[in-house]
Amino acid sequence: MRKRPAKAARRPSRSSLTTMAALALDARKRAHAPYSRFKVGAALKTRAGEIVTGCNIENASFGLTMCAERVAVFKALSEGLAGFDAIVVAADSKRITAPCGPCRQILWEFCGDVLVHMVNLQGETKTWRLGELLPLPFDGSNL
Ligand code: THU
Repeated sequence: MRKRPAKAARRPSRSSLTTMAALALDARKRAHAPYSRFKVGAALKTRAGEIVTGCNIENASFGLTMCAERVAVFKALSEGLAGFDAIVVAADSKRITAPCGPCRQILWEFCGDVLVHMVNLQGETKTWRLGELLPLPFDGSNL
């Protein structure tokens, strides 16, 4: 039998993804996005079942804007959580919104090959593994 890669998290149940999607959609409402008007919510889950949310927080300088995914990751880490298996990203877009490049890099560093479940306001979804969204990643094993 082939061994599961060390970083691959088990797929969370459909009901936990549904719960996470509801929390991400709710967090999206708290986004501070007066410049782009593009509100994003995220919900990050540990294998133990804790869920931490995030929303994008923009700044007039633009460059200091923080994406919803990174807010969720940093909130979770600062609360001492670890061992993540999935993140849900919620946005109001016809084309499903996937995490940006910097978020993929941060997610890889702290969450490994998690499930990335993306939803829009119409209830459409797409699900990828982070390893598929960030092939040939650069991480601590390169150093
Ligand atoms: N944004 C996120 O929060 N997450 C994504 O996955 C894509 C982009 C935010 C950053 C910025 O506030 C706005 O969406 C437009 O780029």
